[in-house]
Amino acid sequence: MTEPIPLRRRLAANAVALTPSFAALLVLHGVGDLAIGPMLAAMAAIAVVTAFLVHRYLASLARFARFVGELSGEREPEMPRLGFAPATEDLATAASQLSAGWRRQHASIDNLAASAQAIVDGLPDPLLAVDRQRRLVRTNRAAGELLGAAAAERDLSTVLRQPPLLAAVDGLLETTDGNFAGPEQAAVELTLSGPPERDVVAQLRRLPRPAADGSLVLIVLHDTTALRRAERMRADFVANASHELKTPIAGLAGFIETLRGPARDDVAARERFLGIMAEQAERMRRLVDDLLMLSRIEQHEHARPDTSVDLERVLKGVLDLLQLRAGARGVTLRLDVEPGLPPVPGDHDELTVVFQNLIDNAVKYTRPDTAVHVALQVAADGRVAVAVADEGDGIAAQHLPRLTERFYRVDAARSRQMGGTGLGLAIVKHVVNRHRGRLDIHSIPGKGSTFTVTLPAVP
Ligand SMILES: Nc1ncnc2c1ncn2[C@@H]1O[C@H](COP(=O)(O)OP(=O)(O)OP(=O)(O)O)[C@@H](O)[C@H]1O
Ligand SMILES: [Mg+2]
Repeated sequence: MTEPIPLRRRLAANAVALTPSFAALLVLHGVGDLAIGPMLAAMAAIAVVTAFLVHRYLASLARFARFVGELSGEREPEMPRLGFAPATEDLATAASQLSAGWRRQHASIDNLAASAQAIVDGLPDPLLAVDRQRRLVRTNRAAGELLGAAAAERDLSTVLRQPPLLAAVDGLLETTDGNFAGPEQAAVELTLSGPPERDVVAQLRRLPRPAADGSLVLIVLHDTTALRRAERMRADFVANASHELKTPIAGLAGFIETLRGPARDDVAARERFLGIMAEQAERMRRLVDDLLMLSRIEQHEHARPDTSVDLERVLKGVLDLLQLRAGARGVTLRLDVEPGLPPVPGDHDELTVVFQNLIDNAVKYTRPDTAVHVALQVAADGRVAVAVADEGDGIAAQHLPRLTERFYRVDAARSRQMGGTGLGLAIVKHVVNRHRGRLDIHSIPGKGSTFTVTLPAVP
């Protein structure tokens, strides 16, 4: 594209180029060596050729200027043809190399900044950076999710209204005589209002000097909700276990007292009391056995069992064992096995405990003279499912999510009276978890419940 060249520049350039030759022609004419006619003809010819050359030269210069101007733009411009100003061609090449180098540096700075942000975003804990004025200058993705799109440049207090945290940040930013006077780091425990409410430990650290974006204090929020819940659960568990043991112990102590005192010579009472004492001792033994079992399974819950189990054999064994108890309530036990089942990776003893618990519950909670139906089949996705269905009173929906908690019972008195510890389904859940399976509970009040354990067939 030809560049429009301002007339003044064109005239000035022509004047500069023509002056020496016109001067020479005038001198020649002055001394009489050149007649006026040829002089004017020579001047006209020189003026035409010069105007043409000056025009091409100025156009090349204009193209060069435009090229240099475009070098700082987004895209690298195309090198122009600068034939009439050869010196500018070298200059253009040098400028283009300079700009390419600058572009490369720019790209690598952009890359560095992007990867720094990617690393910060990759951190699982929310991270916030504030400047010397306590304004938010940087957040990572987790912080964005926790606090919503936190607007930069705003005071931290508008995003996290937590006086202890703000006080700690102020403490870190405090200066006397231009030097930081406060500590370099601090930690504050916070509760973030929900929902869901969260317990958080905020770790604060002041950088030795402000970063390029002004970041001076880094704040990492570490969610301790699960930890707190686990602590609470452990405390509850100890309290529950002690409570469960306290009742039979108190009973035993009472009967011992009676046997030593008033009932010392009453043979009939002694027999009866000894019977009850044996029952209480048995209950304590069961409780301790279940607790030990639970703790053992929990310890290796992360390790999948590596042996293969024949589920049909497991179920037949369990049904044989429970036949007597079922018969006593007039309950019929039925087992349906789909032919051609694949073997399941699992622990024979642990799976026996699982189905013993589920079928025992079914026998306990089904109505007398009904049937408990155990079905072993392959699910659509190739997993193996065992369903234990009873015809009991069922379980109200609000209890279902809590049923596998330790010591959770729908009717505690009834469960205890039936010799239950309330740990059965907790054990079931842990064993099923260890087998990477799942437990589904389906219950219709008044009709019955079905507990289904689904296990992966291939490891
Ligand atoms: N088939 C069922 N029908 C109705 N309720 C059930 C059934 N299975 C379990 N439950 C309810 O779930 C509660 C917890 O069951 P879990 O097996 O953990 O304890 P348990 O049977 O009381 O004691 P344990 O299994 O230690 O003998 C029971 O107390 C009962 O209220
Ligand atoms: Mg049970």
